[in-house]
Amino acid sequence: MWKNFPLFPDKATELAAEVDQLTFVFLAIALFFSLLVATLVIYFAIRYRRRSEGQIGETEETGIWLEIVWSVIPLVILLGMFFWGAKIYIKAYRPPADAVEYFVTGKQWMWKFQHPEGNREINHLHVPVGQRIRLTMTSEDVIHSFFVPAFRVKADVLPGRFTSIWFEANKTGTFTLFCAEFCGAEHSQMMGSVIVMEPQDYEQWLAAGQPEQTVIGSGEALFAKYVCNTCHFPDSAARAPILQGIWGKEVALSDGESVVVDANYVRESILEPTAKLVKGYQPLMPTYQGQLSEEELFQLISYVRSLTSGAAESEDSVAVGDSKESEE
Ligand code: CUA
Repeated sequence: MWKNFPLFPDKATELAAEVDQLTFVFLAIALFFSLLVATLVIYFAIRYRRRSEGQIGETEETGIWLEIVWSVIPLVILLGMFFWGAKIYIKAYRPPADAVEYFVTGKQWMWKFQHPEGNREINHLHVPVGQRIRLTMTSEDVIHSFFVPAFRVKADVLPGRFTSIWFEANKTGTFTLFCAEFCGAEHSQMMGSVIVMEPQDYEQWLAAGQPEQTVIGSGEALFAKYVCNTCHFPDSAARAPILQGIWGKEVALSDGESVVVDANYVRESILEPTAKLVKGYQPLMPTYQGQLSEEELFQLISYVRSLTSGAAESEDSVAVGDSKESEE
């Protein structure tokens, strides 16, 4: 019976164990000090009670050392809690460079996934055990939040930009996926599962899906379909910036500012080409707003990234920590 009413979620990542440890230590510290304060309140209330009618209180001398001790000890404890928490937060929201990238789209009210090999799924995500996986996520409508309790992984999924999260499952099984941001009438139904498989089973699963093209392959086809190569071609910089080797670099803009070429910048440049125009170029590019789905945008961006060797392995600013304007 208790299996259906778990007090704590399953632990399926190393991060899960670390998050739990932090939670329980914080809880223990909070309990200890709550009990200490409550006990002292009761003790002092009795010890220093008024013993006769008209008794007047006396001033107690407090030593400077007592003041120092009860200021410094909590300070040290709180700073320790802060740095410990920050360490885990940074680990959780900074995908490692070798993580394999999957694409996630949230929409009312479902989760859509695409594997790097091209396989697509809805509400279920199959992944291999022991593999670092990075999810690059966006929303087609409102704010959603990708939450897998067993992985202790949660991140907002926002329309109009990419956020990302990563995990490495350390055991096989099926783990529930929730939407953790109220997103409309069927928010509570916006559930799914992450199915963690042995690597060879995953390979079989992938092969059975028979995807037509990899994500980068689809992006290359879109690049040709929308004839991006009439302006963005490798051997001339006449009409548009050369895309080869540009990923992760800082480029100067026509307004004197500069920007690092990452997924969010390329995305903006496709949808709103004049927003951050590269210095030395005319605003010739038309907008592709409304012509590309979120999935196609991601494929196109993945292709652009693949034009820079080693870019797929390098960390870029898709991470949640960089979306400074995001609000809860
Ligand atoms: Cu999507 Cu709640």
